[in-house]
Amino acid sequence: MEKILIIDFGGQYNQLIARRVRECRVYCEVKPWNTPLEELKAFDPIGVIFTGGPRSVYQEGAPTVDKSIFTWGVPILGICYGCQLMAHLLGGEVVPAQDDSAREYGKTATRYDTACKLFQGLPRDGGSWMSHGDYMSRVPEGFSLAARSGACPNAAIADEARGFYGVQFHPEVSHTEHGLDMLRNFLYGVCGAAGDWTMGDYKNTILQTVQEKVGGGRVLLALSGGVDSSVAAALLAVAVGRQLTCVFVDHGLMRLNEGDEVEAAFAPWDINFVRVDAGDRFLTKLAGVTEPEEKRKIIGEEFIRVFEEEAKKLGAVDFLAQGTIYPDVIESGTGEAAVIKSHHNVGGLPDCVDFQEILEPLRLLFKDEVRQLGRELGLPEYLVSRQPYPGPGLAIRILGEVTREKADQLRQADFIFREELARAGEDRRLSQYFAVLTDSRSVGVMGDGRTYDYTLALRAVTTSDFMTADWARIPYDLLDRVSTRIVNEVAGINRIVYDITSKPPATVEWE
Ligand code: XMP
Repeated sequence: MEKILIIDFGGQYNQLIARRVRECRVYCEVKPWNTPLEELKAFDPIGVIFTGGPRSVYQEGAPTVDKSIFTWGVPILGICYGCQLMAHLLGGEVVPAQDDSAREYGKTATRYDTACKLFQGLPRDGGSWMSHGDYMSRVPEGFSLAARSGACPNAAIADEARGFYGVQFHPEVSHTEHGLDMLRNFLYGVCGAAGDWTMGDYKNTILQTVQEKVGGGRVLLALSGGVDSSVAAALLAVAVGRQLTCVFVDHGLMRLNEGDEVEAAFAPWDINFVRVDAGDRFLTKLAGVTEPEEKRKIIGEEFIRVFEEEAKKLGAVDFLAQGTIYPDVIESGTGEAAVIKSHHNVGGLPDCVDFQEILEPLRLLFKDEVRQLGRELGLPEYLVSRQPYPGPGLAIRILGEVTREKADQLRQADFIFREELARAGEDRRLSQYFAVLTDSRSVGVMGDGRTYDYTLALRAVTTSDFMTADWARIPYDLLDRVSTRIVNEVAGINRIVYDITSKPPATVEWE
């Protein structure tokens, strides 16, 4: 299998680089810059990409890489910090920009040398996304200039004989025009990749790896019904069949029919499937609780308790499987961020269950690849293309106290919203959409009578990473249909509002 090694120097777009490379059907992995050199070499890549990073190469303790990497005979593409590091290590000079005119942030007009392999077949002029405060004052020997921008005569440098390329800008972000073509040129034109990495092949590779690792052992998986744990379950079902036990804790805060759908999806496989209907337990624990973080904490803890009890009935297992995916693995730089919400996933499970080893069969896949794998394994589309759903479920979409009656109302209203969006074909362009039951009541009139009922909010967003999100411009007539149906069909709701706040300053969920 042809592989690209991405060396991570801590930049904010590093995952995006990996996704782009895989979009070009070339397998890649991201490894931290301080990974032992032997391990990097043993990966046996056909090409290397140095990522960006927040530091300056001349700072003490700045991330670096062993110079001998330049003797491997493997092409290297340095992006931003990666470009500066390459220049620095090969004898060039990088200095802090003296004044603002040499710093560049944002989309910048750039002229490319289209004779350079990296820019072959592209227009000579285009916008590139810059984000750098340092400046290459001297390029290393053997390099020539391959692109220029207003402030930067060396926006790209190339040593074509050795296959070394550096760009000050970010080809991986969509703001760089033809950025993907540049990466493709590097992968196919410079590294000689064939672009033949497919999910079908990868599925067979992981199935085999899992079978070899598990042998005759027993595997336990906490199934939430979300995409990741469902695909992990399907993979393990195919790989080890009855050696797998899936524990599906239904906390009673799922959407309409969701619990049954999850169960139905796994019916075709011969595995041990345990569904625990724990709705009453969760509702009892949540009685009287109104504070969002408190609700989240209770649900997270209760989830572990229920899972633990089920696991104890099984006795010792050999492996605890989790649906960890690649972004969870390579996520960096969040350690010091303020806690806005404590997210609970069934992924963060327990140290109280008796098992020997953790099994994470999806840990090298991105979300869209996980979905693709789910399809390859035969999971139904409604599970595979499911929108993200928070671990605490409806509890954080019911503002204030959670009761069974409110959960039922919200489930029905949410179902109507989703049904109408799907009917109009709008669901495909939305990243997430749902209803929220507020704790505000207002006066209305129905028939000849006064009502004093709850207000329901509709939320729909588009986003690529859920770190930021834009509220979705849904057609008015569709909103009108949804509003009419909900007020007529769901008792206790007499007013509908549409949430027109983006993230930030709001968050996607209301709690
Ligand atoms: P926020 O509300 O933080 O949501 O803007 C961003 C994304 O995260 C989801 N979310 C959660 N997912 N457990 C999860 O697995 C949680 O506790 C949780 N809280 C929010 C939210 O649905 C959105 O996709």
